[in-house]
Amino acid sequence: MPLAEIVLKNLQTKIAQLQTIAESDEVGAVLESADGIARVRGLSSAVNGELLEFPGKIYGTIFNLEKEEIICAILENHTKVKEGAWVKRTGHVVGIKVGKDMLGRVINPMGDPLDGLGSIKTETSYPLENSAPGVVEREPVRVPLQTGYKVVDALVPIGRGQRELIIGDRQTGKTTLAVDTIINQKDTGVVSIYVAVGQKESTVVKLRHQLEQHDALKNTIIIDAPASAPAITQYLAPFVGCTIAEYFMYELKKDTLVVYDDLSKHAAAYRQISLLMRRPPGREAYPGDIFYLHSRLLERAAKLSPAKGGGSMTALPIIETQGSDISAYVPTNVISITDGQIFLEADLFNSGVRPAVNVGISVSRVGGSAQIKAMRRISGTMRIDLAQYREKEAFSMFSSELDKETLRQLKKGALMVELLKQDKNKPLAVEDQVISIYAGVKDLLTDIPLERLSEFETALLKHIHANYADIVETFRTKKEFTRELGLLVQEVINDFKKDWLNVPTVPN
Ligand SMILES: Nc1ncnc2c1ncn2[C@@H]1O[C@H](COP(=O)(O)OP(=O)(O)O)[C@@H](O)[C@H]1O
Ligand SMILES: [Mg+2]
Repeated sequence: MPLAEIVLKNLQTKIAQLQTIAESDEVGAVLESADGIARVRGLSSAVNGELLEFPGKIYGTIFNLEKEEIICAILENHTKVKEGAWVKRTGHVVGIKVGKDMLGRVINPMGDPLDGLGSIKTETSYPLENSAPGVVEREPVRVPLQTGYKVVDALVPIGRGQRELIIGDRQTGKTTLAVDTIINQKDTGVVSIYVAVGQKESTVVKLRHQLEQHDALKNTIIIDAPASAPAITQYLAPFVGCTIAEYFMYELKKDTLVVYDDLSKHAAAYRQISLLMRRPPGREAYPGDIFYLHSRLLERAAKLSPAKGGGSMTALPIIETQGSDISAYVPTNVISITDGQIFLEADLFNSGVRPAVNVGISVSRVGGSAQIKAMRRISGTMRIDLAQYREKEAFSMFSSELDKETLRQLKKGALMVELLKQDKNKPLAVEDQVISIYAGVKDLLTDIPLERLSEFETALLKHIHANYADIVETFRTKKEFTRELGLLVQEVINDFKKDWLNVPTVPN
């Protein structure tokens, strides 16, 4: 073989080897690391969202791919990542290990237990960012998800697979409404996931205790990213909750309920990360993709078609407003993404209307079709009564002489408002709600003093459960309200009321 050819051959093999070295460009170097954000050079083939490994089994996820460098957020122990350290591609995106044993547990967004009850056995891994099910994989929302609150189940009903926003200032009962809804699922088979973002640890401890007391912890998973946790942890928490719910929805064909408490803090965490990455700030200093952040999270809620197993994910995102301002950037975004919203108002709350739902501006765009028939029938009448009340209430303040009809409407409205009040942790089964609201709508409660209404309601329901179990049973199973049943209930209520008010019956 001529010398030239040998040289050429050698060169060719060398070049081939060189290429393989170039292809394995899987190791880079840290240029800078501060506040949980690392700038990395090299890794030319890395992709957005990929998990990177740093020395000491520390991981980070890629947020920005720039021409010269990669910006990544470090998930844990970010202070241990030093400038000049190596960084490796892992070839996969961030995933979360999931399994049935997570039920009843409190975990952090990395999946580590926080309740000191030992390690959790997991079965498989699900990607943190998953695409939402498409149109053919879905089904319309048809099955109700009862919150146990009369005002919500009657006027802003939620269906399984729906996304209903709970919005209001601080201390207006947002968390209580969501947690009571979880408690109300203790016998429904619905798996609940409560995601705490940026809350005090003591709040989460209290909440866990509450769920345990009401025997609802067994069906619940709590994901805690406290205020003291790094922004990236708070950013990841809702996605982790959503991913775990997807596991139960797709794999175990379960109905699931996810509470994101709250997305205002989630948005703030994302803003912090974005500003540290020097992404250009937009309105209220939020990055341009803040809308996409929440829409891709909430779009994953769904009612699946039978072919997909028929499971569902209902999402109850919570937004905390400042001074009832719902026109701020994040609230308007989330309002437009969800299928309706429950407005809780500080004024109502402070005047004793609890739950402080403003029924005039709260809506549920899909839940109505999921309501049981009996409830749908009577709640329509109540909605009208309340609307008339609101209209007349404002106007009655300026006028001393009111006609009879207006007075009647005012009285009825006040009674309805009173009837819809409900203490926390006291959910009512839907059949009881129907009886109660029916009594109000049919003017059977007009002679009960308002301040004794709740007492009467409790006594009445107890009486009916004890003596007319068949009525309750009919509601529970048939879920319809026939004329005969209505008349029977009226008679029962009238009889009971006579005794209760201690009015001697006049013999005729
Ligand atoms: N329906 C209710 N009846 C009585 N107290 C309530 C009710 N809802 C909420 N509360 C009380 O009001 C306070 C604030 O409620 P919380 O749910 O923590 O508000 P938020 O989450 O909006 O800040 C809590 O002490 C809670 O127990
Ligand atoms: Mg709260």
